[in-house]
Amino acid sequence: MKKIDRETVQKILDTADIVDVVSDFVHLKRRGAGYIGLCPFHNERTPSFSVSKSKGICKCFSCGKGGSPVNFLMELEQLSYNDALRYLAKKYNIEIKEHEMTDKEREEATERESMLAVSEFALQHFEHNLTDTDDGRDIGLSYFRERGINDASIKKFRLGYSLEKRDDLLSAAKAKGYNEKYLVGTGLCIQNEGGRTYDRFKGRVMYPIFGVSGKVLAFGGRTLRKDKDVAKYVNSPESTIYRKSYELYGLYQAKQAIVKKDKCILVEGYMDVISMSQSGVENVVASSGTSLTEGQIRLIHRFTENVTVIYDSDPAGIKASLRGIDMLLAEGLNIKVMLLPEGDDPDSFAQSHSTSELEEYLASHEQDFIEFKTKILLQGVENDPVQRSKAITDIVRSISVIPDEITRALYIKECSRRLEIDEKLLTRQVAKKIADQREKDAQQRQRQSARESLSTPSEDSPGVSQLQEESTSSTEKDIVNLSGDTYSRFLQPYEREVLRYVLRYGMLTLCEQCDEDGNAVPMSVLDYVKSELSEEDMKFTDANFAKVFDIAYLKIAPSFDDDYKIFEEQAKKRRSDAIAQGLAQIQASAIDLAEITLREQMLTQQCDEAYIAELTEFSALYMQKTLLSSPDDVVRHITTDLVSEKHVLSKVHTKFTKIETEQDRLADLVPRAIYEWKDAILECQIRDVRARICQATNDKEELHALMSKSMELQQIKRDFAKFLGERIIAPRK
Ligand code: UTP
Ligand code: MN
Repeated sequence: MKKIDRETVQKILDTADIVDVVSDFVHLKRRGAGYIGLCPFHNERTPSFSVSKSKGICKCFSCGKGGSPVNFLMELEQLSYNDALRYLAKKYNIEIKEHEMTDKEREEATERESMLAVSEFALQHFEHNLTDTDDGRDIGLSYFRERGINDASIKKFRLGYSLEKRDDLLSAAKAKGYNEKYLVGTGLCIQNEGGRTYDRFKGRVMYPIFGVSGKVLAFGGRTLRKDKDVAKYVNSPESTIYRKSYELYGLYQAKQAIVKKDKCILVEGYMDVISMSQSGVENVVASSGTSLTEGQIRLIHRFTENVTVIYDSDPAGIKASLRGIDMLLAEGLNIKVMLLPEGDDPDSFAQSHSTSELEEYLASHEQDFIEFKTKILLQGVENDPVQRSKAITDIVRSISVIPDEITRALYIKECSRRLEIDEKLLTRQVAKKIADQREKDAQQRQRQSARESLSTPSEDSPGVSQLQEESTSSTEKDIVNLSGDTYSRFLQPYEREVLRYVLRYGMLTLCEQCDEDGNAVPMSVLDYVKSELSEEDMKFTDANFAKVFDIAYLKIAPSFDDDYKIFEEQAKKRRSDAIAQGLAQIQASAIDLAEITLREQMLTQQCDEAYIAELTEFSALYMQKTLLSSPDDVVRHITTDLVSEKHVLSKVHTKFTKIETEQDRLADLVPRAIYEWKDAILECQIRDVRARICQATNDKEELHALMSKSMELQQIKRDFAKFLGERIIAPRK
């Protein structure tokens, strides 16, 4: 297994330009200092996806997605961290230096990667069997030929063959150094109770199942025997890399066509996908014989809102799959349904018709789902009032799950016309259904939160008692009324705000501080926050925030000084080059000495300003730049979230109409954020003491201690309020 060298990673991250990268997927227009376009993560008419070239990030202000070039690619294309880096390297012609992993690294490589690797090996092995072995050609390949599958389709869907042997794959993989553990883990091999391992797939044609980003995750193997006692298909079991309900067969091959045609066609089987695709209808995926899941629907929704479901005309099968339609509706998708002529499935239909006939049929046989469902449910019961009413209730339920109100209204209208029922009555029925559902959801949520508040404080978020230890007597330690979770949830927004300042402005100077010799030394935002935290013994109770803060403080900040010096040297050189160039120009073009002096002054002033601005920007972006492209998902996501929040971009207008940015007001804002956090902790302590007072009914002494504690806390809180209040009033005078 290979690992990309650190230097290469750095080079890629340094080279990748966010505007450039996003432009490959989104049409961007200039807007002010940045760029804006339609968000690729959700459907929208007015652009809310904005890109900042200088900050190197993009962000949708509507759905919140975006981030650094790496994160953008990972989310949009569903790539792994390493694959996103490879994509960028290719785009910028950066040669990737990889090294074979050392034993230690190999050990550290995640289980997931090992499982993906062994699956990739199996894929190639099955492909090799199909074309390069006698059995493969005689049995597998000739089967595909018989079914009209051509070489291009075999290549496109990477079809293969497993030999009729106990351990063909097993021994080939072991010979290549793959660990048996992962062969069993992926389900490619099976270990019996006696500990013997053998191949799962034997003598079957193989259909690999790919994830959205093109990694092979699982296989379906079809038997070529006619006897009934052999399972027609054997499929890979669920594993770390394969969660069946989150994958769709053929999506990887279909996704571009789906986006282009803005429609996804849903069929049942492997063969249906392949035959239709071979006939030129490429936007096809299969749910692989099981009913559709929510995860699969979300997956489709990432590429289009329009879904056409093709059924072969077996009425029992259709009724069973109506539930799937409701799920698609609830996800806000537009559903069309299509029936094939009796006796046909998509595979046989595509194989027996020309491309143009197929396209013509698809274009003219789509039905609206209401039309379809009504027909199915009312078939033969038109005159039976009980059955009819049942059918109507069913249709009302379908309409009520549609999230969009206007779409709902349109369907109600359509349904009223078709069923000859008063529209108002239908509207009322739908509204009632929605209200019922809301009620049910609310109850569910209530039960959920009741369960949560009963749970004990979690290990990594300190409970109330822990924070009180410094200031309280032993009587107060034994009862904890507020669970750590509730406490942590209450504090979360305050912690978030402080962390945001650290990530956005961490390395900028906040104030000056005296060192031991009495010299003024600059103190960064990060140092200020750190010193406040240690002084007051405060901690981030949110485990993820704590992790990001630690990385910022322990990993990023220590390398700042050296990097800054290097950058400063470079910036100095740029300044002196610019001055030299400017001087030469002035001397060549100026008329008299007075003009020369004046222009020289202006030149140096301009160059100095540019120099300072460059240094400030370097410091300002230092922290987030590294964290935004971190391989750690939590770190990357939190940083993306915090540095690109909308209100960061807004400016503060003062009375003097001078525009001040948040960055200009850090000296005010950061201490304030810390105080607000402390105030929130205090609030938690007060609530806790109050709750204890309620419980400590009999013990007078304890009650007394608690009362005075409560008063003491209230007093601190009042002082805080005064302080915070003054801070609010101060800038307005
Ligand atoms: P079908 O029986 O319609 O199979 O099942 P098919 O794909 O059309 O295959 P051919 O045409 O007979 O070669 C539809 C889907 O249901 C799943 C498979 O994903 C199949 O593609 N299935 C079916 C199983 O997983 N196991 C089975 O035993 C049968
Ligand atoms: Mn079939």
